[in-house]
Amino acid sequence: MIAVAPAPAALLRGRPFLRITDVSPDELAALLRVAAELKNVPASAQRRMLQGKTLALLFEKPSLRTRVSFEVAMTQLGGETLFAAGGEFSIGSREAPEDVARVLSRYVSAVVVRTHEHEPLERLARAASVPVINGLSAAAHPCQALADVLTMQERFGTLSGLTIAFVGDAKNNVALSLAEAAVMMGASVHFGSPVTHRPSEATLAHLGALGSGTVRAFGSAVRAVRGADVIYTDVWTSMGEERFRERDAAMLRPFAVTDELFTYAARHAVFMHCLPAHRGEEVAASVIDGPCSIVFDQAENRLHAQKALLCALLADTRGFVR
Ligand code: CP
Ligand code: NVA
Repeated sequence: MIAVAPAPAALLRGRPFLRITDVSPDELAALLRVAAELKNVPASAQRRMLQGKTLALLFEKPSLRTRVSFEVAMTQLGGETLFAAGGEFSIGSREAPEDVARVLSRYVSAVVVRTHEHEPLERLARAASVPVINGLSAAAHPCQALADVLTMQERFGTLSGLTIAFVGDAKNNVALSLAEAAVMMGASVHFGSPVTHRPSEATLAHLGALGSGTVRAFGSAVRAVRGADVIYTDVWTSMGEERFRERDAAMLRPFAVTDELFTYAARHAVFMHCLPAHRGEEVAASVIDGPCSIVFDQAENRLHAQKALLCALLADTRGFVR
């Protein structure tokens, strides 16, 4: 066993990861370092890191990236996964979240949950004796934010001093987790949205207190993106909110990311989106499929960021091993 990199083990051992704020700025920076190292460590040096560990994936909503990247991450790290979706799993519908947590803690090493309401997930995590990871709730998508800031760090070297414009539904799960991570790492976040989709004053105050970065909300897409290094958007209507689809489309159309909007950003600006995307709605096909788009690097980084997270929560080994 040859240690080839700093030990990722025990950084976050046993802790829940339901929101970005479940880790400190230093821990977030350490997770990103481990993710960058894992990206460069040969597969042969990774495949015993989570040997004997089992990850349960319990998803009430559809998923491509989150499910597959966690399954591949566990496989490449030597662990195993099991998956239950939809009708087989729904927090609180068949038994109390606390009982689900206590039972799962007897079977598996960690649990990833994708769910609607955040509060039952908090209850489940509090009662579990194994780490519970939020694979997306209505309130937060912290695994996405890990990959987002990893991708920006790769692209720009640091988040400190960057301006990230999030335009569209600035109240949603992706926007909140991204802004938390970005402010913790010293970036300025500009939200561009109508008042109906703008974070509350309490949320803006919460974000502003998280780190050395700053946060501002604009009612105009052009003002939000002016000079920005990153333009980020997400779907106008999140899963579980389908009843608002028509209203969202009407309100958010002026916040679509088009080539014209892009001309107001910095010359080197990149386009990011958590995916899935709707071309012709929140983003023009020419932007997401154009040279400034880094959405597939971002999607790939879900794998590396989540490997770092899993190692930090579960690994027994000290360092990567050959
Ligand atoms: N970005 C993201 O979480 O994708 P999935 O919904 O496909 O998991
Ligand atoms: N805000 C979107 C993100 C999907 C990955 C949703 O919750 O549906």
